[in-house]
Amino acid sequence: MVDERPILFLDSGVGGLSVLAPTRALLPRAPVVYCADSAGYPYGTRSEAEIAARVPALLGRLVERYRPRLVVIACNTASTIALPAVRAALDLPVVGTVPAIKPAAEASVTRTFGVLGTDATVRQPYVDDLAQRFAADCRVLRHGSAALVALAEAELAGERQADHAYRTVLAGLLDQPGGDAIDVIVNACTHFPLVADRLAAVAPRPIAFVDGGPGIARRIAFLTKGQAWPDTPAPGRAVFTRLDDAARRLAPALAAHGLDVIEAL
Ligand code: DGL
Repeated sequence: MVDERPILFLDSGVGGLSVLAPTRALLPRAPVVYCADSAGYPYGTRSEAEIAARVPALLGRLVERYRPRLVVIACNTASTIALPAVRAALDLPVVGTVPAIKPAAEASVTRTFGVLGTDATVRQPYVDDLAQRFAADCRVLRHGSAALVALAEAELAGERQADHAYRTVLAGLLDQPGGDAIDVIVNACTHFPLVADRLAAVAPRPIAFVDGGPGIARRIAFLTKGQAWPDTPAPGRAVFTRLDDAARRLAPALAAHGLDVIEAL
């Protein structure tokens, strides 16, 4: 029996493509449904209560419609706030995306690193907990940037953004007291790895950028080990909760990630 059930990814926008890409590299025959919650975008400036109410309900609808074998919350904001509620509500494996603090602590030579996420993510107790568990001997500086989310969305819509916009975002971290010692930055929002090369290009010194994407891909491969995949998977689907012109402008970027079908939820 061929198992056509897809892997379902959820983000507020295109950020989850930074998780989808390494997953497709490991599992090229996996059917994929990618949901961008464009009607709820951006998540990072919303309250905990809004995210906690919205994400489990939306995933419930998506699971009913697409019957996935596994759900990936490809969003740090949604994962750090709503992962336990989603797991409790769904009767299938759920993989979350949380800030890659452990790899950053392993890589930092100066023992000072930055966490760049959304405003909502960087204030989560979940992040305090990760820092305490994996980076107790490090100074961990944080910066929330809604601007960088918008920059990534615009770049993927084909609109080239100016260097100075990236420089301003980095300054939010590097100009903090102690920021001159930062040698590693965690891209703790899935949008940010999509523009990591732009950040690296304007950094005043070499800084390593780390994110959770490759680790999540390995986790998905582990959880689906031994499962059958179709020889030729159905074309990937991008599902928007609001399908407007802005969403349509993303079509080339989505197609580059194997998402050839675009539809509204
Ligand atoms: N990509 C999301 C994250 O990883 C959220 C971006 C947003 O909608 O603010 O946090």
